[in-house]
Amino acid sequence: MLNLSSLKKLQEARAKLHTSQKIAVLTGAGISQESGIPTFRGQGGLWREYRAEDLATPEAYARDPLLVWEWYQMRFHTVLRAEPNSAHYALAELEKTKDLILVSQNVDGLHKRAGSSRILELHGNITLSRCERCLHLDELKENFSLPPFCSRCHARARPNVVWFGEALPQAIFGQAVEAFHNAELALVIGTSAVVEPAASLALLAKEQGAYLIEINPEPTPLSPLVNFSLMTTASQGMQLLLGK
Ligand code: APR
Repeated sequence: MLNLSSLKKLQEARAKLHTSQKIAVLTGAGISQESGIPTFRGQGGLWREYRAEDLATPEAYARDPLLVWEWYQMRFHTVLRAEPNSAHYALAELEKTKDLILVSQNVDGLHKRAGSSRILELHGNITLSRCERCLHLDELKENFSLPPFCSRCHARARPNVVWFGEALPQAIFGQAVEAFHNAELALVIGTSAVVEPAASLALLAKEQGAYLIEINPEPTPLSPLVNFSLMTTASQGMQLLLGK
């Protein structure tokens, strides 16, 4: 339950959300946790005792492409079974009345399925494979075999995601920087804010005088810097923020 000072802050945050037109949102794995998709650094984040940092790298893929594909295939099937939750839908709704850009670190595609359209997927999307030779993108089928091959040139295809040590897609990251640079309000939901460069986007907005709100049941390195921290789940936080 919120105490009196938090209630005051919540009213302030709601008012700020109401009056702000330019809004930049950054989401992480936490927003999909209530859809049944495990986060990376919380409970259940490991797979066969591997961490994301052990598998989501070009070196791991070069060493054992099938092991890396097995991890992505498991995550792909988890995503197929998952549904967007109320937090995804609340952001899609907000986009209808605000100049809102949704920057996501997630690769699960749930924001799009919830109806958001102005989405920047910083780390790619696991529903697609990308040809290692001609870069052609193919939609993965539910029962795709390992490893998948390019439908155009038949070379082996890799997961269409950004691995540790790889550069983010420059055009997409540039748009994300611009969104946070121009934002009147920045909303950071469900990220541990430890993976760069995504983690620094909110600071960009703060430097320009934007109002920062974080929704996360746990404190993060960003928490001391935000104007209002809703220490709760994404669905509960969005409900409180939108006053529904
Ligand atoms: N609602 C909101 N936040 C939640 C919830 C929830 N129901 N459950 C957990 N969280 C929070 C956790 O407290 C944590 O701070 O979500 C955050 C998840 O952090 P990570 O697992 O580190 O995920 P993320 O921040 O998205 O990781 C960033 O690292 O592995 C790479 O590329 C991968 O995009 C990912 C990046």
